[in-house]
Amino acid sequence: MTSNGTAQRPKAGRFVADKAASLWLSGIKEMAMLSARVEGAVSLAWGIPSFPTPDYIKKAVVEQLHTDDDIGKYALPDGLDEFRHVVARKHEADTGIAIDANEHVMITAGNMQGIYCLLQVITNPGDEIILTDPCFASHIQQVRMCDGTVVYWALDEAKAWSLDVDALSDLITDRTKAIIINTPSNPTGKIFSRRNLLRIGELAKRHGFMIIIDDPYSHFTYEYSEKYFNLAAEAELFENIAYLYSFSKAYAMSGWRLGYMVLPAHLKKQAIKVHDLNMICTSRIAQVAGLAALLGDRHHLTEFEAAFAKRRQLICERLDALPHIFAYVKPEGAYYVFPRILTKHQSARDFCLEMLKNNKIALAPGSAFGPSGESHVRMTFCVSEAEINLAFDRLEACFGKA
Ligand SMILES: Cc1ncc(COP(=O)(O)O)c(C=O)c1O
Repeated sequence: MTSNGTAQRPKAGRFVADKAASLWLSGIKEMAMLSARVEGAVSLAWGIPSFPTPDYIKKAVVEQLHTDDDIGKYALPDGLDEFRHVVARKHEADTGIAIDANEHVMITAGNMQGIYCLLQVITNPGDEIILTDPCFASHIQQVRMCDGTVVYWALDEAKAWSLDVDALSDLITDRTKAIIINTPSNPTGKIFSRRNLLRIGELAKRHGFMIIIDDPYSHFTYEYSEKYFNLAAEAELFENIAYLYSFSKAYAMSGWRLGYMVLPAHLKKQAIKVHDLNMICTSRIAQVAGLAALLGDRHHLTEFEAAFAKRRQLICERLDALPHIFAYVKPEGAYYVFPRILTKHQSARDFCLEMLKNNKIALAPGSAFGPSGESHVRMTFCVSEAEINLAFDRLEACFGKA
């Protein structure tokens, strides 16, 4: 109340902390939210696989709902014991590294939550976290949320978005805490070479920083499967690596919110505290789904990859028909392509807003993925062929064929 007794409305921003005010909504989510309000819009903006969660996972969950009296209860903060043990066996099968389910495995609500939890564990104010540029948009803001400083490491577009490890050495300082690596990469679709990843590993050991491996896409490597290399398979880097796996894409479980982290034991101890404060535990029902997912025959992985391979072919053919609008590098993995826009627009965001308003096509502005992303757009080909065709029919109607 004011001194004259009238109720006083809070001023705009009165309750908002500076840090929250300094954040911006991810360009991917912004476009997704805007396009949801445009009747008949077609979206290549958000990387949500078109498939439903495989039946064998859903059936196991339904059965558990009927038979398990604990299904509605909290799980332990680091996750269900049985699930952690299955994850430990999977990690050994994937990497050849034997790990301890209790010491090293932590179940998360997906890699987004896992990385945020981990950054809270490792980041003191002003610590530097190196991100590839472009990188996954949310990593940038997550580092800022944790009071870290983002250090951009530009990928080399002229060399098909490769890592430039010579340039990395110049970015390392005594404040460097970690580097986040995502291969196959979102947004470029690049699979980083084994040689370059091992060189990052050497630098991490020499300078004492963490390598955070964010892995939602390793099942989607198409004809480049031989090229894909998981740095978490390097035993001597174990203490420097946090490996995060997501069920969102390969198991079409983005809405279940599920992933896991494999961490050095001393970091897991810290991460449990942060995870507990943040959410107590990952939803038990999602963990039950994840357990079923890993215990099943997983034949859907080949089907998903084959479908994405066809869609990648399609989107590349459709891009090839618009050489006056887009210049692109064919993606090796994941399910994104990151073309340069050749039109005269003020910014990538302007281009995207105009495409949505005038043509009902949602694309993600490249600038959301870091400074090098300006003048680019990210398109996903995890949506159906019909949606890819509709989006490109509209682009052709707008710009005309070459
Ligand atoms: C590189 C990368 N990391 C993390 C995420 C988020 O994954 P999750 O659904 O497991 O939180 C995504 C989703 O698109 C992604 O592309």
